[in-house]
Amino acid sequence: MNQGEAAKAFPTVYTSKSAKPAGQNGAGEARPYEPEKNPAIRRLTAGAIKRRKGKTIFPIATAYDAAFGQFVEDAGIDVILVGDSLGNVVLGYDETTPVTIEQIVHHTQAVVRGTCRAHVIADMPFGSYQVSNEDAVRSAIRFVKEGGASSVKLEGGVYESERVRAIARSGIPVVGHIGVTPQTAGLGPGFKMRTHRDRLVDDARSIEEAGAYAIVLEVVDHEISREITEMLSIPTIGIGSGPHCDSQVLVLHDILGMYPHSPPFAKRYAEVGKVATEALAGYAREVREKAFPSK
Ligand code: KIV
Repeated sequence: MNQGEAAKAFPTVYTSKSAKPAGQNGAGEARPYEPEKNPAIRRLTAGAIKRRKGKTIFPIATAYDAAFGQFVEDAGIDVILVGDSLGNVVLGYDETTPVTIEQIVHHTQAVVRGTCRAHVIADMPFGSYQVSNEDAVRSAIRFVKEGGASSVKLEGGVYESERVRAIARSGIPVVGHIGVTPQTAGLGPGFKMRTHRDRLVDDARSIEEAGAYAIVLEVVDHEISREITEMLSIPTIGIGSGPHCDSQVLVLHDILGMYPHSPPFAKRYAEVGKVATEALAGYAREVREKAFPSK
């Protein structure tokens, strides 16, 4: 059975788990989601994200498992990052540096299973791309082939632009990441706001020129973010970099209030951690008081 026949025989196969209002988050501006026309294009593509530049500001959230991937998608957020913030918010490390390729593959698979249409970006962890272009391409292939990722992201400016070029040339869409780069920030430069205009502009230019389809600006001076956003033809994705970027990304556990150490620029839209603790305390109390299970 070819794809066209499969789409006719199983019309729901490629249907999103929840109806998404047309045009939400700029999806209407991108390539329409028409699986009946081309079932092979099931998820939002990197090209469609790139074409949002200058047309619409769109939100991105991280997710690390199927359940929360689905919540994020159901909220109308159609770009999901399986960030190596996994190390901090899920695995209990103090930093992202120890996160492994296998862990990102494992969590990317879960997010992909929990979502239908979202573009899932796998974050390349420390050590998976620094050594050589060959290593970088080999790792990127694992995130796409084993993890099911739609694209990958890696940290670094001018010095990592050759890695971006190598991965992009292999056919895998890449997101760059400059400004504060947490994988190595703790080893030297720290997490303070980046204000070296010329260096940041050079980094941004080199990443775009190497073939990235978007670029994260993390904790970059807001005016420099504005300048870079106006200068580049690819979308900038801001985190702690002010309101002028083409997109914003936040860590899921910060948005939901599930992580005790949210950075000052993050906004907590709920206190899910508190609600979870209260629910668990209610359950524990009822078991102790023999109120659950009821007769
Ligand atoms: O790992 C992550 O979650 C990230 C975002 C914060 C950009 O890299």
